[in-house]
Amino acid sequence: MYKPISPTNADSGIMALVGDTPILPLRFEPEGRTVHAKCEFLNPSGSIKDRLARSIIMDAEERGLLRSDSIILECTSGNTGISLAMLGAARGYRVTILMSRSASVERQHLIRGFGAELILFEPGRGYETGIEISREMAARDPRYFLPRQFENPLNALDHEHETAVEIAGQVPGPIAAFASGYGTGGTLAGIGKGLKRRYPDCKIIAMEPAEAALLCGEMPCCHSIEGISGGFIPPLLQSAPIDGERKVSSHQALEMTHRLHREFGLMVGTSSGANVAAALSVTRELAAGACVVTILCDRAERYFSTRLFQS
Ligand SMILES: Cc1ncc(COP(=O)(O)O)c(C=O)c1O
Repeated sequence: MYKPISPTNADSGIMALVGDTPILPLRFEPEGRTVHAKCEFLNPSGSIKDRLARSIIMDAEERGLLRSDSIILECTSGNTGISLAMLGAARGYRVTILMSRSASVERQHLIRGFGAELILFEPGRGYETGIEISREMAARDPRYFLPRQFENPLNALDHEHETAVEIAGQVPGPIAAFASGYGTGGTLAGIGKGLKRRYPDCKIIAMEPAEAALLCGEMPCCHSIEGISGGFIPPLLQSAPIDGERKVSSHQALEMTHRLHREFGLMVGTSSGANVAAALSVTRELAAGACVVTILCDRAERYFSTRLFQS
């Protein structure tokens, strides 16, 4: 059951800094189009995942699922691990993160920096390997608490009742479209439902790497947009009110991310560039001035060792 976050139940320390992020109108020339970008990289650990970490930890505390000897255990491509490690440090919980060896070394440093334990597994079958390992560990030791970001409904509910409401209050007039990639699908499903409730005509567009366009019926392949499209359709995405897909190649994503760095001063990660590229292409199909919203998911500092900074 979703319980709204209020200043009184989120008032402890760093939790109060999560959410309420600004929206920036990004004007693209020579296209003459504007994309409204929700600045989720301004959350305290630097990504949109602080929202789900706060929501799941608060819910678990209220339901008595987290005790002083609990260990928060999650499989993640990095950002959720960083968020859980940050909140675990602030709330006094041990945190163990399972992450593919292919995740950037900066993410590993951040997780360890917050004092969490990191278990790296071989990339092989991606997330599914890590999810299996976490289930086996939890079956052997009752101290483990599994946030289960891929299936926990709070992941989407928080975006539906918080992020979407923030967005609707921040942009002028009706929202014509919302475009975003998916990792767990929480962002797309939650914000999609929240915006549709307020603006039934709002088109919800799933951005996919052109190299791994699963929703378009194609086979997953390697791409360079970290944090999204892990090679399977996540359970939360099944309830997302998706009206269409938009493919963005890794090359286009990197190019747009560099534009965000150099033309807008926004030091964000590759999935943010991919989201903006998708949103910009959606604006071209709509009337001039139509309001199209997307997400700037995380900060660029966690990508220094990746392809993003090799050109
Ligand atoms: C960098 C980045 N962008 C986008 C997403 C997608 O968010 P969601 O899991 O809500 O689909 C993630 C998820 O891990 C991410 O790490």
